[in-house]
Amino acid sequence: MIISKKKTKGSNKMQQYVVANWKMYLNTRDAHKLSESMAKKMQVAERPLPKLVLCPSFPHLIPVFNNIKGTAISLGAQNCHTENNGPHTGEVGPEQLKDIQAEYVIIGHSERRRHHNESSEEIKRKLEAVIAHGMIPILCVGETIEERRSGKTIKKIEQQLRDETPEEFTPNQLIIAYEPVWSIGTNITPTEKEIEDVHGAIQYELQQLQPNGNLVPILYGGSVHTQNAATILKCSCVHGLLVGRHAINAENLWAVVTAAEE
Ligand code: PGA
Repeated sequence: MIISKKKTKGSNKMQQYVVANWKMYLNTRDAHKLSESMAKKMQVAERPLPKLVLCPSFPHLIPVFNNIKGTAISLGAQNCHTENNGPHTGEVGPEQLKDIQAEYVIIGHSERRRHHNESSEEIKRKLEAVIAHGMIPILCVGETIEERRSGKTIKKIEQQLRDETPEEFTPNQLIIAYEPVWSIGTNITPTEKEIEDVHGAIQYELQQLQPNGNLVPILYGGSVHTQNAATILKCSCVHGLLVGRHAINAENLWAVVTAAEE
């Protein structure tokens, strides 16, 4: 079972985020239509909404940026290399992402850890490279189902945070996303208590690692949809959502963005 950690001073009243991870979905036309639709809706929004970050696949970064520039929506990438340039066929470097106005980069997603063998050491270097270029990495951490069943959830996540965050960081340089591996793409989500326990432990660990570390935003990701978004956003120490499948359709994504109460 998860052991609840001491409460820290971070609060739910921090800036909220909805990060849309479009993974390897959508063609140019659909990415264009979806980002255009989000931009229009955001511009006529009648109340403050979470910060929306759209993370399309690489070919769609520029067309999506052209639709959202000048709006409150930000551009994010799904990965980046540790180096700026060099003989790295098929890779995209942080300078190239900065150059096309990306502000956020998802790092260490479980699909990359699993299918591209990304190590903690590489993930840490990616984080440092993203921060060095003035962008904000969204570090994904989370346990497998075996780790949860054997009571190792918190230990695993603490280790990831210790091994993968830079030696020094300020709260506005980094975002953490708690994504239980067993919840991604499965329609199975942790209970509210389980989410709160892990988020509380992440906040506590971040404070141990860095003064004011408790002010780093912590998002939840894994089978977020229109029906559970509001409930998850109300959990303590949850500052936003990282959304996959339900972020590739305008109606669903907008329902998630507007799920947060004022
Ligand atoms: P999902 O994916 O919302 O489709 O479960 C989330 C993620 O992988 O970030």
